[in-house]
Amino acid sequence: MDRILIRGGARLSGEIRASGSKNSTLALMAAALLADGEVILRNVPRLRDVETMLEILRALGASADWAEGDEQSLRIDPAALNQPEAPYDLVRKMRASFMVLGPLLARFGSARVSEPGGCAIGVRPVDQHLKGLAALGAKIQLDHGYVEATAAELRGGRVAFDLTTVNGTQNVMMAATLARGETLIENAAREPEVVELAAVLGAMGAEIEGAGGDRVVIRGVESLSGVEHTVTGDRIEAGTLLAAGLVTGGDVRVTGVKPVFMESTLEKFREAGADIETDEGTARIRMAGPLQPLRAVTAPFPGFPTDMQAQLMAVLTLAEGSSVVVEQVFENRFMHVPELQRLGADISVSGRSAHIRGVPRLMGAPVMATDLRASAGLIVAALAAEGDTVVNRVYHIDRGYERIEAKLRALGAEIEREK
Ligand code: EPZ
Repeated sequence: MDRILIRGGARLSGEIRASGSKNSTLALMAAALLADGEVILRNVPRLRDVETMLEILRALGASADWAEGDEQSLRIDPAALNQPEAPYDLVRKMRASFMVLGPLLARFGSARVSEPGGCAIGVRPVDQHLKGLAALGAKIQLDHGYVEATAAELRGGRVAFDLTTVNGTQNVMMAATLARGETLIENAAREPEVVELAAVLGAMGAEIEGAGGDRVVIRGVESLSGVEHTVTGDRIEAGTLLAAGLVTGGDVRVTGVKPVFMESTLEKFREAGADIETDEGTARIRMAGPLQPLRAVTAPFPGFPTDMQAQLMAVLTLAEGSSVVVEQVFENRFMHVPELQRLGADISVSGRSAHIRGVPRLMGAPVMATDLRASAGLIVAALAAEGDTVVNRVYHIDRGYERIEAKLRALGAEIEREK
């Protein structure tokens, strides 16, 4: 079990390139199942979650692997797809694998995918995914923990989601590309990862209009071709690296991202007192004065992202005054709070609101990672704490951050991984 050791106090400065987006990559790997040809994805982050999705694609019969000679590219060819069943032991490792359901249903007319079950941050049901696929004519059954979906022929329909779901929107969008007729998705998620998926499906021959808005129209086509695509930079990793620069009073430039997809995050950093500069592919944060308290409420895009909530809270533990963070997307996403308290933070939680009273300093201590973004929040806090912090269970971090300690070390952090 790896651990990460951090000696806090260094002001981070310098330039670092963000890796490709984990969440875009996972959706695009599922979309590859729809293609009648090879799909090549570039700028892919080498993450545990990507490896898990590769195993799932192989279990379905597709050929899927890192490209020869280019360690950041994937080659996926679904030609040999012969097994429309995604096994429990893989799906339970990563909920995003549920996104193979729509493509398998569209391609085979049937699919069997394990119910992903809950995870640390919440129950995370998939009822909206199933409601959407049923609206396209699928018959859905639950059988011993598996979702069995069958549809002699998917046909276009109207899907009105009861709530905003990113992977639900992506799952239904993918199925609708090969359905007969037109599909209207209402209350669609507007995340950049939905927009990127729609763009790639379009390049494969799909007819999709309105992605990025809450009404998306998909006109079904006969087949989709292979495609080559370079994945956009990871907006959450970039936000995490900027939060590290902010909390240490540093000067950090993150390249390889689109700040236009980070506006709500950058706005919060400005409210906290940071000076932010952006151009088309770079965001720079400089922090000279004291951290200012603020109120943040997580919401679907373009609101403040729930995936940045722990990282922002870590910064606010050292603000001059009291802040409030409201987590509206997931019901149990404050597990970083007790660990931040171990570092000396003064936080009280009531329901979906966390009240953070700024303290003059944090003190390093051993802490426990519980989920991907909570771990990132602990690392951000540890970088500003006095003394040594040990973050245990870093496999959570490796799911979503490629070589996080190398990136932070390049910015001047005293951080290393201990096997
Ligand atoms: C995606 O998960 C991301 N994962 C999450 O990132 C992110 O936190 C989340 O979107 C919200 O932005 C990937 O893209 C792989 P949702 P997703 O469906 O799509 C409820 C990370 O750290 N809901 O938008 O699964 C759900 O319980 C991960 O990279 C239903 O009730 O999230 C949640 O409360 C963590 N029924 C809310 O909607 C459904 O059928 C939003 O979830 C689906 C969702």
